[in-house]
Amino acid sequence: MATQVDSFIGKYPIESRAGEIERLRIQGEAMGPECLTMLGLIGVGEGWRCLDVGCGPGGITGLLSELVGVSGRVLGLDMNPGFLDAARVGAAGNVEFRLGDAYQTGLAADEFDLVHLRFVASTAGGPARLIREAMRVVRPGGIVALQEPDGGSLHCYPPHADWEQLKGALLGAFAGVGADLELARRLYSVAIEAGLEDVQYRTFVVAVRSMDAMVDYLPSTVESLRETVVRLGLISAEELPGVLARCREHLRRPGTSFTMYTVAQVWGRKGG
Ligand SMILES: C[S@@+](CC[C@H](N)C(=O)[O-])C[C@H]1O[C@@H](n2cnc3c(N)ncnc32)[C@H](O)[C@@H]1O
Repeated sequence: MATQVDSFIGKYPIESRAGEIERLRIQGEAMGPECLTMLGLIGVGEGWRCLDVGCGPGGITGLLSELVGVSGRVLGLDMNPGFLDAARVGAAGNVEFRLGDAYQTGLAADEFDLVHLRFVASTAGGPARLIREAMRVVRPGGIVALQEPDGGSLHCYPPHADWEQLKGALLGAFAGVGADLELARRLYSVAIEAGLEDVQYRTFVVAVRSMDAMVDYLPSTVESLRETVVRLGLISAEELPGVLARCREHLRRPGTSFTMYTVAQVWGRKGG
């Protein structure tokens, strides 16, 4: 079996623990409607050839598959073979998954109508380099689209000390490995500097209640960052289970709610 790609630039800190596939799927589903809005504004339709870079266990490949229909083609690329195995289960006939490095995909130039990346540049780093590679494989006139977060809108009500501690650990763990959980704030400018034309920009925030599938977002993401959180001394290994349990208890109380990170959607055209 193929092993995980050793990217020469990315330092993706999220662990492939049991539960990470479920975490990414729940997150993707919660963001589905806003993603569809963006794809509609881009005009993705029948026959398009689309690439989802860093697709994880599916990313937006399912949405793309429906939009491009039987005459279209969708390719999902990721460095994690386990995610790709999960993505292949139940995938439609117009979708294919391939192991590869987002920074040097090895794909032919000018091959796609749309190249998309969600939560890859912020977590793995090197946004300019990722966009350069995306612009290489998209055809002249084709679209490069990114969706990235801004952790500044993570707020829980009623406020809770354990929520705050986990939020601090989440932001600290990403910052500690050079990831940028505020990338959304400068994404428009990064896209312009990379040379994309006619760049578009919109944002959204998902709101979560105790009965929503996203309720476990913060505890489950910190669990996926456990090694980094403990190594950086953000929360000790002994303290972590208690903080997670108390935060989960708070989040599941009827009446508790929180807002997610803000997601920026930025897309533009390759000239030529
Ligand atoms: C936060 S997850 C997002 C997954 C998916 N895009 C989504 O929104 O559901 C980031 C993904 O990027 C992948 N990734 C990170 N660095 C990569 C690299 N250098 N090459 C390919 N994939 C990479 C990870 O394996 C992971 O699946």
